[in-house]
Order: sequence, then C-alpha cells, then structure tokens
Amino acid sequence: MPAKVVVIGSLNMDLVTRAPRLPRGGETLIGQSFATVPGGKGANQAVAAARLGAQVSMVGCVGSDAYGKELRDALLAEQIDCQAVSSVEGSSGVALIVVDDNSQNAIVIVAGANGALTPSLIGCFDAVLQAADVMICQLEVPDATVGHALKRARELGKVVILNPAPASRPLPADWYANIDYLIPNESEASALSGLPVDSRQSAEAAATRLIEMGAGKVIITLGAEGSLFADGKSFAHFPAPAVKAVDTTAAGDTFVGGFAAALAVGRSEAEAIGFGQIAAALSVTRAGAQPSIPSLSDVQAFKTP
Ligand code: RIB
Repeated sequence: MPAKVVVIGSLNMDLVTRAPRLPRGGETLIGQSFATVPGGKGANQAVAAARLGAQVSMVGCVGSDAYGKELRDALLAEQIDCQAVSSVEGSSGVALIVVDDNSQNAIVIVAGANGALTPSLIGCFDAVLQAADVMICQLEVPDATVGHALKRARELGKVVILNPAPASRPLPADWYANIDYLIPNESEASALSGLPVDSRQSAEAAATRLIEMGAGKVIITLGAEGSLFADGKSFAHFPAPAVKAVDTTAAGDTFVGGFAAALAVGRSEAEAIGFGQIAAALSVTRAGAQPSIPSLSDVQAFKTP
C-alpha cells in the first residue's frame, strides 16, 4: 500500500498571462498569452504527492462556480480522494499570475472559497486526517484552520509539514512545537525569523532561529541554489540540478509534495530532499502549476545534464 498523505489547504484557478516583463505600478503591458490552469498551493502539493508515489486526500473548499468543478475534477483525475473537498456558495479561489520572459512570476491571490475552510469543517473530516501518515499545510487558508490542523495532526502522531507560504509576517508562536518539518523559501524564512536571508550563512542563521522557536527540522528552499537542511545539530546543503527554467510557478509546491511522498514511503530525509529537488527542477522546465508537475517515472528517468 502506498503511504498516505493528507493536504489541508487551498485550491485556486490560476489566470496566467505571459508578458515580456512584469508590469510596473500604473503601467499597461501587452501580454503574449493567457490560460486558466488549476493551481493553489494546497492542490498543487496534493497533485505532486500523488504523481510522485503517495496515496493522497485533499481537505479544502471550492466555490459553486464553474472553476470549482474544474478544480475538483483536476484532483479526481490524479486519483486524489476529494471526499473532504467541500463546495461552498460563491467564487472559488483565484490567482492572477504574470510570468515574464525570464520565467519569473508575480502572483495576487483572492481567497474566495478557501476562506470558508474553518476549524470546524476540518473537524468534520477528522477521519481523513486519522487515516494519513503525513499531513501538509500551507498559508492560503485561514490561520485558525492551519493552527487547528497542526495541533490535531500532532495529537494524532502524524508527520507534520508546514510550508509557510505565502508568509510576510511571523507565525503564531504556539504553532512551532507542532511542526516536524518547516519548509519556507528565503523570503518566508526571513519573514518568520526576522533575519535577512540572502546567503547560505544567513540561511543557516535563520534556520537555527526557527528551530529555537520550536520547529523540529527546517528546510529552506533556495531556488536554483538548492536547499538547506537543519536539524538543530548540523546543516546540510543540497545543490539543485541545473535546468533551463520556463516557469517557476509551483516549483516550491512540487518540492514539498515530492518530499512528503518520498518521506511517507520510508525514504531518508536526504533522499526525500534530493527527490523533491529533481521533481521541482523538472517542474520549472514546463509551464503552469499542476500541468508542470512531473510523474514518478519522469523523476526516476532524470539524468543530471
Ligand atoms: O505556488 C503556486 C501557486 O500559488 C499557484 O498555483 C497559485 O494558485 C498560488 O496559490
């Protein structure tokens, strides 16, 4: 039986425009293309974990609009259990995304139905959480819900992963003791720790601070520079495979989902990080959020260029 991962988080329809560069304030640019693509950090991480070897359940909310059905169908197509994806009156979550010619992006999200994922709704699906080995949360649903999920997963003895994205502020102090693996990127690590993160040394300092705050282990993703792992005793740096980037949207989500799937099937932390990094590297060579996420066979076939 594949190991079970539950993702508690967001589903968004991504409205994606490609443009030569990101617009400045007050500026109108002529875009090159437009597409609607299933996304949302929670759903992306669920798809990544499912394509990369885990049995996955999603806990979240979609709206009563056409996007809601599309978002649910996209997960069902990956054999993800959606019994805990509730449909609520109103609009689904959306993300307005511009991707430029350097494959960088700018994103504005509107929570929509994701805002309806309350702690009591999570409580209705406690059996889904109980059945899982690993739980993943992010920050595109209400903070109260994330805090509740972390606490409940800890009580149930699950492996608890928090990807604190997007984060521009410190996390509630009482969350940290419930987190086994905290996986921020550089800017999130900086926002959480209050320290600048712009080098390997500064990432080590931020990771140390986050462990002092109570997180079990910290993995700071460093984009093309790979990632830094810290467990409070030592640090390990994992260089990323070099690839030609087309679109970095969902690279972090692919890493988190891949890491969780690998950990859930019993791989070591180092193996799970290396596996997640290959998956994330492959994802940046393709456009879009969920369409860019590789399969297990893609990752197994990957050869360092
Ligand atoms: O991490 C990428 C995701 O962030 C996008 O799919 C978008 O929906 C936003 O949530």
